Amino acid sequence: MQKRKVPVATRERLFRAARQVMKNAYAPFSHFRVGAAILTAKGQVFVGCNVENSSYGMTNCAERTAIFSAIAKDGPELEIRAVALVAANGSDRGVPCSPCGACRQVIYEFGPRALIFYQGKKGPKQSLITDLLPEGFRLK
Ligand code: THU
Repeated sequence: MQKRKVPVATRERLFRAARQVMKNAYAPFSHFRVGAAILTAKGQVFVGCNVENSSYGMTNCAERTAIFSAIAKDGPELEIRAVALVAANGSDRGVPCSPCGACRQVIYEFGPRALIFYQGKKGPKQSLITDLLPEGFRLK
């Protein structure tokens, strides 16, 4: 399938937003801070950071924080065009981080054609969500 273009300026805007919100991460257990910015079909940008918990499994990833806050603000008609993800491990910035499996499924729900921008092990990457999550689950 043809990759839908996201202009470089828009991608940079998403990365700036993701870096900014990463500062708000609550990650006292892993020290791994993550920031995510999503671009909607309407051109809006929503952001989220990871929020950890003493009961580790209650942790919410940055991507899901961004998606849930978009829906809380504007309702369930969310269509995700793109996601930018940044991460820092302690004082190391720009460390590799691709969306976890749970977040891939949640992104897919609202953006089956979404483009994901992230830092791979060998440098910056962009992937379609369907390449990161083949055969994503759908009820309808
Ligand atoms: N994390 C995210 O926020 N997004 C991901 O896609 C990968 C993992 C967070 C969860 C946890 O707070 C920390 O990174 C370490 O797993």
